[in-house]
Amino acid sequence: MYFVIYRSKDKAIISIFSYFCTVMAKIIVTGSKGQLGQCLLDAATRFPHHHLMGYDIDQLDISDTQAVFQTAKERRATAIINCAAYTAVDKAEQEQGQAWAINSEAVKGLAEVCDRLGILLIHISTDFVFDGTIFEPYTEKDIPNPLSEYGASKLSGERFALSCRRCIVVRTSWLYAPNGHNFMSSIVKLGNQKEEIRVVNDQIGSPTYGPHLADALLQMVTQVEVSRLPDELMGLYHYANNGSCSRYEFAQKMKELSGFGARIVPVVSSEYPTLAKRPAYSVLDTKKITACFGIVPPYWADAIRPYMLFTNHKS
Ligand SMILES: NC(=O)c1ccc[n+]([C@@H]2O[C@H](COP(=O)([O-])OP(=O)(O)OC[C@H]3O[C@@H](n4cnc5c(N)ncnc54)[C@H](OP(=O)(O)O)[C@@H]3O)[C@@H](O)[C@H]2O)c1
Repeated sequence: MYFVIYRSKDKAIISIFSYFCTVMAKIIVTGSKGQLGQCLLDAATRFPHHHLMGYDIDQLDISDTQAVFQTAKERRATAIINCAAYTAVDKAEQEQGQAWAINSEAVKGLAEVCDRLGILLIHISTDFVFDGTIFEPYTEKDIPNPLSEYGASKLSGERFALSCRRCIVVRTSWLYAPNGHNFMSSIVKLGNQKEEIRVVNDQIGSPTYGPHLADALLQMVTQVEVSRLPDELMGLYHYANNGSCSRYEFAQKMKELSGFGARIVPVVSSEYPTLAKRPAYSVLDTKKITACFGIVPPYWADAIRPYMLFTNHKS
């Protein structure tokens, strides 16, 4: 991005006009019908200097590396934000092949495509790469030790992604968005249907509101584009809404704001067995993203009200 100073007054006007019309980044968003993908496309209006192109599996299967290459080349993409993933945490214990094909092998292909084209890859990963045994917010330097096939496949995927020369991996946690099926939408639905719901109180994490994460990702792209040393910004980051809570506290906050009728009863995870084991503690330390990009995630409970308003729940 630069100004060219022309001698003629007319040319100077044309130059300034083209400056304001410049598209900073042409971004392919994969998995665009998913929670985060949709939030990114919705965020496009707040980032008019980026051109976002959404593709979900029916238009672009990330396992088809050649198709990804052709699409990125033809659309002259300057970045890919990979929101496509196999996210069925419990099913992944039985469908390991599918989970690894999408969360790991396909990401290897994405990294190769981005390297061949010299473009930026932003890949999303998860707090489930950790085993949750240290009970202190996890930094990017902490050693992962996934407890589930989902977590293991995502860890493998983030390692492939980071092999790409221009790549940022962002781990997030407990993601929810107005368009998706998630913990929040399930609790609100059950809370309106039942008299009592049982929610685990021994899993601690940070709920993350999709529109906040989407804005953070597009701010990162902006800063990479304007940075004089963009390669210094590459690497692994954590982004989650600030603060932490148990699933039970999260559900209580939703009840408080949406006013549903059901009583919420705290239970321990052993009373609510699931196929995949989840970390008891998976709060992500977000100091690095603040230090490198100046991004300060909002407090988790402050995001519930906008979610409720968006989804027309009582607030
Ligand atoms: N949800 C969470 O709580 C959470 C927490 C931490 C991290 N994350 C990570 O955040 C990212 C976004 O998650 P999300 O909640 O937005 O996921 P999501 O709602 O499940 O969306 C994923 C999207 O990817 C699509 N997809 C699946 N396989 C594909 C393929 N081979 N090619 C192209 N698209 C494909 C899915 O289509 P179908 O629906 O048709 O399969 C879906 O539209 C993921 O990397 C996830 O691991 C999520």
